[in-house]
Amino acid sequence: MSNLVLYRKYRPQEWREVIGQEHVTRTLINAIKFGHIGHAYLFSGPRGTGKTTVARLLAKSVGCADLDLIEIDAASNRGIDEIRELRDGVKFAPSSGNYKVFIVDEAHQLTKEAFNALLKTLEEPPAHAIFVLATTEANKIPATILSRVQHFAFKRLSVSDIAEKLKKIADEEKIKISGDALRLIASSAAGGCRDAESTLEQLRVWSDKNIEKSDVEELIGAIDFEKVKTMADCLAGGAKQSIDYIAKMTENGTDMEAFAKAFVSHLRKILFVKVDGSLLNLMSQELTPEQMETVKSQSQNFSLETVSRAVKAFMTAQNDIKRSPVPSLPIELAAVEIANSQNSQIKTQIEN
Ligand SMILES: Nc1ncnc2c1ncn2[C@@H]1O[C@H](COP(=O)(O)OP(=O)(O)OP(=O)(O)O)[C@@H](O)[C@H]1O
Ligand SMILES: [Mg+2]
Repeated sequence: MSNLVLYRKYRPQEWREVIGQEHVTRTLINAIKFGHIGHAYLFSGPRGTGKTTVARLLAKSVGCADLDLIEIDAASNRGIDEIRELRDGVKFAPSSGNYKVFIVDEAHQLTKEAFNALLKTLEEPPAHAIFVLATTEANKIPATILSRVQHFAFKRLSVSDIAEKLKKIADEEKIKISGDALRLIASSAAGGCRDAESTLEQLRVWSDKNIEKSDVEELIGAIDFEKVKTMADCLAGGAKQSIDYIAKMTENGTDMEAFAKAFVSHLRKILFVKVDGSLLNLMSQELTPEQMETVKSQSQNFSLETVSRAVKAFMTAQNDIKRSPVPSLPIELAAVEIANSQNSQIKTQIEN
């Protein structure tokens, strides 16, 4: 067990271990409890949010034997043959227990013919069959299939939920890592748990000392909130401050492209607050309450016009970095442009 990669080793084996998907697990647990198990489910949602995990738990909970759990990866078996085989296999009774469970991963990759073959099966599934189609792209599933399945949309996991799980793993595995480092891993994982767990694994191999936030920054080029926050303050302070801070980051080896990306995302949050304070709730999964306060207070330093211009300028900068002779130059240019437009706006306000 110990040589398993972390994300496999810590795949939830019990319903209560699944984080962030209560809307799905509660419904399924009740369906099993009251004997209302459906024959066809669609699990959609971002990578690493628990679709395969929950499909396997469902199989386990209905007493499906290992032999009767059939997993098909539609990404590599796009063909109609596999689905035909599945359609034929479906007729045979389970080897033991009452159910056979078919998990079709990356279901959106099935060909049209394969979908048609599957549809026939979904129209009249035998009582012992349960289908779970899992996909990251629900919009690519044909309407004919959609109308025959119960659809569960998995959500991105919140930074604090991921960080909490990482903490448990780190404790269990005796990995010494700071809370700040765990949070940074979690916030760089874009709501997916697998990537976060893989990063933790990489860090364990990478450093045998106490793992700190700076290690995460160095290994995966993650950008800490402090950096984008400071940059936004500098931007409000003027061009000189901004360039000084960019120089400081360059000295410390910050990956400028990753920084530009993180800064665009920070500016976007400020933009949302400028448009309407309540829009910040869209970000509540990504930010701690303190960070939300920071975004709110920073939004007061910019006009709506400046922020929207800044989003564009730094997005362009992000794209230009690869081609730039000096990696920090596009960001410096964007900073000068925005800091100056901010200043001239303030001047006109004062003059008027
Ligand atoms: N909701 C969750 N609760 C706890 N752990 C999770 C959750 N989602 C994912 N994980 C962790 O991430 C790993 C991968 O999850 P899983 O295979 O279920 O993702 P998925 O949604 O099927 O992703 P993909 O779209 O890439 O197939 C699991 O083994 C587990 O360690
Ligand atoms: Mg999966």
